[in-house]
Amino acid sequence: MVLTMGKDANALLDRIDDLPPLPAVAATVMGMAEDDKTSAMDLAQVLATDQALTAKLIRISNSAYYGFARRISTVREAVVMLGFKQVRQVAVGASMMNAFKRSGFNDGFDLDLFWGHSVAVAVASEAIAKKTLGAKPEDAFTAGILHDIGRLVLRQVMPAEFAQAVAIARSGEAPLHAAEFETTGYQHDEIGQALGERWKFPGHLVDAVRCHHDEALRAGEDGLAGVVAQANSLMLHFGLFCGYELELGEVAPLTPELAGIEAMCGGIDRVLARAFNFIESASGTPDTWYAKAG
Ligand SMILES: [Fe+2]
Ligand SMILES: [Fe+2]
Repeated sequence: MVLTMGKDANALLDRIDDLPPLPAVAATVMGMAEDDKTSAMDLAQVLATDQALTAKLIRISNSAYYGFARRISTVREAVVMLGFKQVRQVAVGASMMNAFKRSGFNDGFDLDLFWGHSVAVAVASEAIAKKTLGAKPEDAFTAGILHDIGRLVLRQVMPAEFAQAVAIARSGEAPLHAAEFETTGYQHDEIGQALGERWKFPGHLVDAVRCHHDEALRAGEDGLAGVVAQANSLMLHFGLFCGYELELGEVAPLTPELAGIEAMCGGIDRVLARAFNFIESASGTPDTWYAKAG
């Protein structure tokens, strides 16, 4: 599948004075090697520098998201119980969500549903990666959290055109990624790619962000990009759109491939329940949520 190129995403980022910074803790922990040299306690120490994040980490560790019977009360305990990779993935996810919470827009784009979609894709990607061994599960979760982040930049830089795109998407005329390309000339996946490069994300993570709308990618064959693209397709199939919801009738039957993907995730309802648990613990109960999830 040949993807249409949008306008130059790097030139767009050059124009922004207040480019969203990567949250400091996220930058540090993403750069921490997961080899033996980096002890879990180093991670606990870095995380402990951010009190708000520490509180969230402990809340997530004790939430239904993990379902441990034992109460975890310190970051050290969380690292021991959940492991280095899990704690790092949760820390990056929670700090990204908080860094992009600012709003003040009145454009019909719902930030709760933006994170609802992103975290659902993260949860599904992690599950798919575990089953297919197509990517590291913690990379899959992080890539899922980040995959649509370029959209928030586009919204910030071209609010009027973005609002037009949201109106088109909410009318059901075209999906948001097509509508925003129409009204802004940019592709949010290319902006995400450019942002990921500036934030010095690992290359395979940047590729997954760039390619998440490529439906030709396969979960078991195309590495992290395939995992995230299929997880994204699954959420869109069920109407869990990024930042909005449509009055949908019956959901069309799944293709055999997407049915396989859904099964790997333990069912769409499980994905949504886990995404909701994560968001609730990481940033509070969302004001809006998908009607499908009840
Ligand atoms: Fe997207
Ligand atoms: Fe998406």
